[in-house]
Amino acid sequence: MSFEKTRWVWQDGEFLRWDEAKIHSSAFGLHYGAGVFEGIRCYEAADGPAIFRLKEHMDRLYASAAVYQLNIPFTPEELNEAICETIRRNDFKSCYIRPTAYFDSGSLGIRSVCPVGINILTWEWPNDFGAEKLAKGMRVTVSPYKKFHSSMIPTTAKATGNYLNSILAVREAASRGYDEAILLDVNGNLAEGAVENIFLIKDGRLLTNDQNSSILLGITRASVIQIARDLGYEVEIRSLKLDELLNADEAFLTGTAIEITPIREVDGRAIGNGARGPITETIQKTFFDIVAGRKEEYRHWLHPVWKQAGARKAA
Ligand SMILES: Cc1ncc(COP(=O)(O)O)c(C=O)c1O
Repeated sequence: MSFEKTRWVWQDGEFLRWDEAKIHSSAFGLHYGAGVFEGIRCYEAADGPAIFRLKEHMDRLYASAAVYQLNIPFTPEELNEAICETIRRNDFKSCYIRPTAYFDSGSLGIRSVCPVGINILTWEWPNDFGAEKLAKGMRVTVSPYKKFHSSMIPTTAKATGNYLNSILAVREAASRGYDEAILLDVNGNLAEGAVENIFLIKDGRLLTNDQNSSILLGITRASVIQIARDLGYEVEIRSLKLDELLNADEAFLTGTAIEITPIREVDGRAIGNGARGPITETIQKTFFDIVAGRKEEYRHWLHPVWKQAGARKAA
């Protein structure tokens, strides 16, 4: 697997060609996984590319950075503009956006607070699981790896080192032929997918957990809670047992990379009737209408990449 090189990468205030975008081998963040990042999507909307919930992602980036005393030397407005300009220069209609802030080269003493480097990558990355899984659902397994507790590493901060836990879980799940891993928390309750939040549906109600179950508070999760309530569904937020997943009528995972992907099977056991359920489908459809700019009442969730509608064509 390799990246298709994009034309431009933004690094520390400059636009660099793909091959010039490099980080020094002594960077503190490389050695200790000390960085924070975001995964954001830009969608092709009717009047040009639009970034889904940019403000919420940038708020989370700065909040994650604060946990590690990582002082981002740019304002959110400057980074927003850098993101938009990176998309414009690469001429993407839709893409995935990955801003990363990390401790750069300074010292490798663990107590050092090194200078901060910032990197913005954008690339074309359709749904990680693909259209078939979006429609039919995926087969997941309960991972033998537990999700670390927030008292060990704060799970609400999206830090690079956190993903070692996810990498172990997804690789182990893949080795047994599953699409994704579900991690339990240290108390044996459901935590989340390797890189997704989890929702169950029982008797017409949605259930999901929160930071007390050692999860990242996903922006797709927050959007789904809002969408479901706007559609008139009740959403209950509390810790969830594995049994509740196994006995759910429907279940799905949410995340920027996988959007809203149904779970059709857990360790060989069908969830509901083993296919995407009707409530999941309704919420998915509403979500895709929103990101494509087809729902006026959610237009404020979209940040246009080009300042004026139609500017892309004129430029
Ligand atoms: C551990 C973890 N949980 C949940 C999510 C979903 O978060 P979001 O919807 O903000 O992408 C992600 C993805 O970033 C994640 O890495």
